[in-house]
Formats: sequence, structure tokens, C-alpha cells
Amino acid sequence: MSRHVERVEHLEGTIKVPGDKSASHRALMLSALAAGESSIEGLSSGHDVAATSQIMVQLGAERHDEGARAYVVGPPDGLRASDQVLQCANSGTTIRLVSGIVSGIEGRHRLEGDASLSRRPMDRVAIPLGLMGAQVIGQGERVTAPLEILGASTLHGIDYQVPTPSAQVKSAILLAGLFAVGSTTVREALRTRSATEDMLRAAGVDVASRDEGAGRVVTLTPSRPAPQHWRVPSDPSQAAFFCVLAAIHPDADITVVEVEDSPERIGFVNVLRRMGADLERQSSEAGSTLRVRSSLLSATEVHAAEIPSVDEVPILTVAAAAATGVSAFRDMGELRLKESDRFAGALRLAQALGCRVWSEGDDFFVEGLGSSRRFENFSFDAGLDHRFVMSSAVAGAAGQGCDIIGADTVASSYPQFFDHLASLR
Ligand code: S3P
Repeated sequence: MSRHVERVEHLEGTIKVPGDKSASHRALMLSALAAGESSIEGLSSGHDVAATSQIMVQLGAERHDEGARAYVVGPPDGLRASDQVLQCANSGTTIRLVSGIVSGIEGRHRLEGDASLSRRPMDRVAIPLGLMGAQVIGQGERVTAPLEILGASTLHGIDYQVPTPSAQVKSAILLAGLFAVGSTTVREALRTRSATEDMLRAAGVDVASRDEGAGRVVTLTPSRPAPQHWRVPSDPSQAAFFCVLAAIHPDADITVVEVEDSPERIGFVNVLRRMGADLERQSSEAGSTLRVRSSLLSATEVHAAEIPSVDEVPILTVAAAAATGVSAFRDMGELRLKESDRFAGALRLAQALGCRVWSEGDDFFVEGLGSSRRFENFSFDAGLDHRFVMSSAVAGAAGQGCDIIGADTVASSYPQFFDHLASLR
């Protein structure tokens, strides 16, 4: 589906973005793993999270909703193998974390994804899960989907250094560790989002973490998570789109409320401030309120370590395109392995806006135009990548309009995105 986005003259209002995608997946999984009823408030309405929900039901959990609350009942005798394919759609978090769970469920499990997911490497989970005693069989050297996983009746705990820091890989191993004999330790050289550790701990599982330099060591002692009431805060990666929109638009004042604000998620706020964004942040129990007004931005240097998992890089590329000067994005190799090749996509988008761009190895550079009003009217094929749909829409609304091919992919994480954007006019 192609969608036209018009240039907008004035933007103002308050937005509550959907529930954090990472926390939503984990709330469903931990509820399904627990014996008895959990409830979840603020679940993401995106298709990725719906895929996880469907798989938990296939594995034996029950779900019903009352108003905005989801109730999930985990079977007393634990999850069991399904004879149906587990359909992970566009969602890397689903396929990798479910791989961890089914590794500990005896039987044969089949996991599939869409064309985007089927090109992403699963060797990063196949190797550690294999060391724990499961067998993960995929296609080719990088073990891509479709996957067949032979779950073991007994896994054993491992002590594993994740080669490329990844919250999904860490989480797959920790979830498999719930089924293991002995403790499981995961070491990461860079601290990635801690949703899995934090939520397991909240559900009564013994999980110890300690920081080591820029990294973290997490050790889990296996036990069954207890049912909980989960409250999912708003997704900071979605908030980033509206923050950049307000900062680059010449006449904007946008507030985003109740945003999840753990240090590994909120790096984009520091980047925008460093670029000169007029961004106020107020923290409370419910998360951060971010108020951003029109700003004159200047170029900066962004290192991947500042934005672990690099989810906000596509939209920060749009901020760089509106800034004065040359911005550098360093050590961005992981971008190539996301829902699309976001390294190539970020360059393609900045170029479509009229910027001079170039790359050297895993670094790329964007020479900004000094104002979003200098963006060209453009057309962009987002492929199967929701973050490029939203990044293009922000650039079009702040610039001279655009056409987005593949815009319906936005529903994988944020089905209401275009309605929320329209509400700010
Ligand atoms: C996620 C981890 C990240 C991120 C993704 C969600 C998660 O991937 O890109 O959108 O929920 O664990 P990494 O595995 O690269 O950290």
C-alpha cells in the first residue's frame, strides 16, 4: 500500500504512544510460563506482539481481554508443543525469544516468519541454545527461518559471552535457562535493554545482574515465574519519532507522555539535546514526559553504544538531515540485520531528502540541509520495515510531503501511527 503524507504547517498536542513492544512480548511470555492468571495493562497493539500472543495460546496458554486489560492463564502443568506452525510474522523478538522457550519444551517446533524475518540471522540463538541441549535447525550458514527446533526434556545451564550484544539473544538464553538444570550466565560487552531480567525478577525468579565496565553479567537460577499484574509503559522507540518531528519542524510543540525511560532505551534524548533540541524531560513513577519544541539542530556524532540495538538510528538520520553540518553515525553494522538493511535504508532516505551521504565500513555520514523545509518532496519504499514508514512520514510532514510505499507495515509496531500524526495538526 502506498500512502501520501502532506507537509504540515503547524503541529501541536500530546501523544501517548503504544505500550513498549519489548515489555509487551515479555509480559505475554512470562504470563504464559506462569501457573495461573496474570493480567497485562498497556499491551502494544502492534502485529508483532499479536504474533507472540497467538503463539503463547498455541503452546497452551489462554487469553481473554476485558476492556484495555489482557488476562493470560498459564497452564498448571506448563506449556507444551503445538503441532501447528508458530507464525512469527515480521517479529525478530518473537522468533528469538520463542526459540528460547520452546528449546525447553520437549517435542518438535516449527517457526516461520515473513520475507523480512526469513533473511535475519538466527545462528546467534541457535548456537547458545544448542550448547544448552536443544537443536535449532534453519536454512544455510546463518540458520535463517523457517526453523525447526527440537526441544529437550532437560536443558543444562551455560555461561555464555554473547558475541554481538543483543537483548534478543540474551533473552532467548535466559528464557531457556528457566528450563535448565543449574544456573545460566549471560555476559554482554555492552549493556542492552534489561526488560527480560527486570521482569523475570518481578515474577519472583532469582536473577542477579552486575555491571562490568560498559557491559553486564546476568545470572539466572531456574524456577517458574509467578503470575503477575503487568503494567506496560509507553514505547520510547515510538516516542522518538514524535520527538524528532517536533525538533525539526519549524512550528511545533509536542509532548509525549509516560515513556519507558531506562538508560538503554533513552539514548536518543541525549543525542537530540546534543544537537540543540529544545527537549524537556520530566520523570515520574509512570515514566518520562518528553516535551519538544521547534529547534535549530546542528550535526553530531552518534556511536552505536549510545543507542544499544540501534532502533532509533533511522529517525535520528532524519534529524541529521535537517541539521547544519555533517553528522557521523559510527559502528552501525548491526543496522544491516534488522527488519530491513537499515544501513542502506538510512543512506537512501537521507539521499531522497536531498542530502549528500557517504559511508566508510560500518560508519555513515549525512550532510544536513540546515532545515527540514529544504527537504525535497520524495517517494520512499519502506520494504517490510515499520521504522522506515514512520521515519519517512516524519520527514514528509516536516518537509515537503512524501509518498511511502509499503506504509501498511507500520502496523507491525504502531497501527495508530498515522491517526496520532493527524491528531497533531
Ligand atoms: C529487542 C531487541 C533489539 C531491538 C528490537 C527489540 C527486544 O534487538 O532491535 O526492536 O525486545 O529484545 P537486539 O537483539 O539487536 O538487541
